Amino acid sequence: MNITNQFQISTEDETPFIQMNLEKVKSNLDFFQKTLSFSSDEIFYPVKVNLQKEIVELLNDSNCNFEVGAVSEVEELKSMGIKASQIIFGNPIKQASHIKRAYYLGIRTFGADTENELRKISKNAPGSDVYFRIDIDNTGAEWALKGKFGTNIDNLPSLFEFSKSVGLNPLGFSFHLGWNNANEATWKMVFEQLDKKIIELQKKNVDLKTINIGGGFPAHLNNQYADLEKIADVILPYLKSWREKNIKVLAEPGSFLVANAGVLVTSVIEKVERNGKTWIFVDSGIFQGFYWILGGLKYQIESLEKSKSENFKKMIVCGPTCDTHDIFSEDILLPTDIKTGDKLIIHPAGAYISSAQKYNGFDYPKQIID
Ligand SMILES: Cc1ncc(COP(=O)(O)O)c(C=O)c1O
Repeated sequence: MNITNQFQISTEDETPFIQMNLEKVKSNLDFFQKTLSFSSDEIFYPVKVNLQKEIVELLNDSNCNFEVGAVSEVEELKSMGIKASQIIFGNPIKQASHIKRAYYLGIRTFGADTENELRKISKNAPGSDVYFRIDIDNTGAEWALKGKFGTNIDNLPSLFEFSKSVGLNPLGFSFHLGWNNANEATWKMVFEQLDKKIIELQKKNVDLKTINIGGGFPAHLNNQYADLEKIADVILPYLKSWREKNIKVLAEPGSFLVANAGVLVTSVIEKVERNGKTWIFVDSGIFQGFYWILGGLKYQIESLEKSKSENFKKMIVCGPTCDTHDIFSEDILLPTDIKTGDKLIIHPAGAYISSAQKYNGFDYPKQIID
């Protein structure tokens, strides 16, 4: 179906704006749960993806839980009526003061991947539950999440023991295959390898209570539903076997739930012919949430106008700032009669765009004038 038919794009609001479709978030959640057999309380929505109140409320009404990376996200969630018991603090490396404040706010489950982090948690959030981020292959991810976090799964026995020795309660492990990973072979290989490791760990009496399979489900310029079904074929046997071992399997789908539920609506502010190329300047740019383009992510761009022209040509779509990197794409096919005032939509814009303003709950530093 044409993307524009899926949104009732406001004609009253001044551009730029992101139009979100909440029904789509709900149907994505239902599809995700059905396809991978998750109950809603096993879903921990990572709020870094989009912390819009209406989305949080919808997920809360559906009985989902939440994952945060900073204490300010805990505060935001609590201001929206989310209970501390529904929140896990997944960021493996945290400031001690954030752990302390989160504990004060009622958070009792923390992620970690080093002994030193466990020492900090034990001191500032005594007696809490902990789980360990492990490092896994991200081959095929459009945006790998590797290297910065994650311990080798073989370190789990000693991390479990260390946690207990400092009064913490180790639950299990988490991982992430990287954003938008549609590579079935990687999903298969990772789950197969983990399954073998789980058997080894259980032989070593490591009491695994939870496995958090993170995010990474395809959701960017692909048929996310068909792709999830293919991934389900590959990973469901493992999920079933882990569940049968009484291990609670959790997931943190972000993009899958919200990415295709949002489009950016922009207006053309100028059309410039320069050196044989056509530049379309729009009223919002990549520094307004689309920084990911600098790392290689691509977005789709379409004209919202009914063009009278049958002729299309490749044009450069760029943002309004004076920075010359502020370019959405250099080869977008647009009708040749496109003009100032015409509207374009840029998508998917439901994930990581609006939330890029204070990404993962971390604000820009203040300036101190001397
Ligand atoms: C810990 C964690 N969980 C879940 C997600 C969501 O991933 P995705 O948007 O691929 O679903 C992220 C994204 O960066 C993450 O860091």
